[in-house]
Parts: sequence; C-alpha cells; structure tokens
Amino acid sequence: MRHPRKTDPTWADVTPKPLWLNRRALIAGAAALAAAGPAAARLPKGRFSTDEAPNSWDDITSYNNFYEFGLDKGDPKRNAQRLTTDPWSIVIDGLVDRPGTYDLADVLKDQPLEERIYRFRCVEAWSMVIPWVGFELQGLLNRVGVQPGAKYVAFETLLRPDEMPGVARRVLDWPYREGLRLDEAMHPLTILATGLYSEPMPKQNGAPIRLVVPWKYGFKSIKSIIRITLTETQPFTSWNDAAPREYGFYSNVNPEVSHPRWSQASERRIGDGLFGRRRDTLMFNGYGDEVAGLYAGMDLRANY
Ligand code: MTE
Repeated sequence: MRHPRKTDPTWADVTPKPLWLNRRALIAGAAALAAAGPAAARLPKGRFSTDEAPNSWDDITSYNNFYEFGLDKGDPKRNAQRLTTDPWSIVIDGLVDRPGTYDLADVLKDQPLEERIYRFRCVEAWSMVIPWVGFELQGLLNRVGVQPGAKYVAFETLLRPDEMPGVARRVLDWPYREGLRLDEAMHPLTILATGLYSEPMPKQNGAPIRLVVPWKYGFKSIKSIIRITLTETQPFTSWNDAAPREYGFYSNVNPEVSHPRWSQASERRIGDGLFGRRRDTLMFNGYGDEVAGLYAGMDLRANY
C-alpha cells in the first residue's frame, strides 16, 4: 500500500471545507460512502451534543412517526422507500431578501455540517438519543436574508400522493406543516438535518432534509421539507389544527403540563425495553440553560 507523504494534497486541501463536508453528505449510497472512508471521523462534533449513548441505527430507523407513510411505527420504513428524494428543491419565500426555488445542493452550500447528538422526546412519551448530521437553520436564514417584519418561520413537507400511501387518510390537513417563532428558528440548537450516524438521511426519518428542534416535542421536527416561509403572523401548524387542546403552537417539552390524555412527567427511552425503568422528563428536554430565556415572562401553561 502506498504510504501518503505529508505533502500530498488531499481532497480536503483543494476544496473549501464546508463544500467538502456537504459534498460528502450528498454522496448517495453506502458504497460511495464506504469507498470514501468513515465520514464520522471527519465530521466535527457539534456543540450541545449530549454524552448519553445514542440509540442504535435500527431503533432510529425502524420506529418512526411519518404519517404520510402510515400510522404504525413500522409503516414509514416499509412505505417510504418509494419516495423520490433526488432531485429536491426548497422554496424559500415570504419576508426574505432573496426568495426563490433553491436546489438542495444550493441550500447546503456554505452550511457547515456537524454531528449533533441530541435527545429527542416525542409527545407520545417515548424518547431516543440521535446522532444527527446537520447545520444550524440560522445559517441558511442569514444567507437568504431575513427582513425586519418577519416574526415566524413556516415549514411545509412534500405532498406527493402517488408516493405517500398515508395521505389517502385525512388524519391531518395535508401537507404536514409546522412553524417556529423567529427567535426559536434562529437559536443555535435548531438544526436542519441531512443525515444520521454520518449516513445520508434515511427516507423514513425525513430525507433528504428535515428540521430538528430538540427542546420541543418531536412533532415540531418536520420531515422532507419543500418550503420555508418567513411570515409576520403565526403560521398554520398541522397538529395544532387537528387537535388544538392537545397540541399547542409552542409544544416545548414540559413535564409539568400534561397532555389532556396522559402525563408528560416521564418517558420511555426506546431501547430500554418495555419493562425498562421510565425516566423523568426534563424541562425543555434538558436544554433549559440554552432556551429558557426565549420564554421569559411567558405562562407556559397557557402557551403549551
Ligand atoms: N413530519 C412529517 N412530515 N410527517 C409526520 O408525520 N411526525 C413527527 C415528526 N415530523 C411527522 C413529521 C413526529 S410526531 C415525530 S415524533 C418525529 O417526526 C419522528 O421523527 P423520527 O421518525 O425521525 O424519530
């Protein structure tokens, strides 16, 4: 085997690092990834990462909520594989300086990818720890230029009935939509994720790009995003529309505010087994030091 000399230029030397990282993330298929070497070693470990042991690849990719592909936890893995995720573009519009339809590669341009190991708490009182690959949403918003009147960010999932068997049932008013207040969207904990475990995002987890807001219940983390709109007024959100008493706009993880039909005080960590000890749920899912200030003075019982 040829031993590389210190002076031999590598791909990293000739390519600006953010592009190189994005390029890596965009390489489709395990074969290409394997040939290029373990990506994990090259992705910088992002700030805010928890030390807790991540859930297995199997847990994270087999136990999913993605109602466009069915209501059972196993349905997304089974049904999402037919989703076409390439080509993919995202409309960025509303109160931005540079609105447009951006190819995914352009969206990712200059956004530094990192590994972020986050706790993920579903409103159904289960949780996981997930090693996402992603970048801060604020980087993208700054790139398109947020106009002064913008107060919220609205997100929309693809709606393609011929590839999404679940949308035949009107459990939600499709397309799936979510929203954040602008300061929540600009918070450095909020990421757009394009992969996990250093692999491209599996389709059942929201390929090719999904939101992750780790201090909020999982349904805020909208998958397979095709549109991001900066608005002045609070946007429509799917679960709030479907059951307003159960799902508020904020949906911050809060062990003190029960869901009308169950307590939010504890959670079952997927992987602990059905008889595993339940864990206490932490305020803001344990990210209170970072985000509590966003809600200073707000009544979190009224703004659930
Ligand atoms: N996004 C879309 N488009 N459709 C969905 O049904 N489910 C949400 C969220 N994003 C959902 C979605 C819910 S309830 C959760 S808990 C998380 O995705 C689950 O993400 P995961 O399957 O990657 O764990």
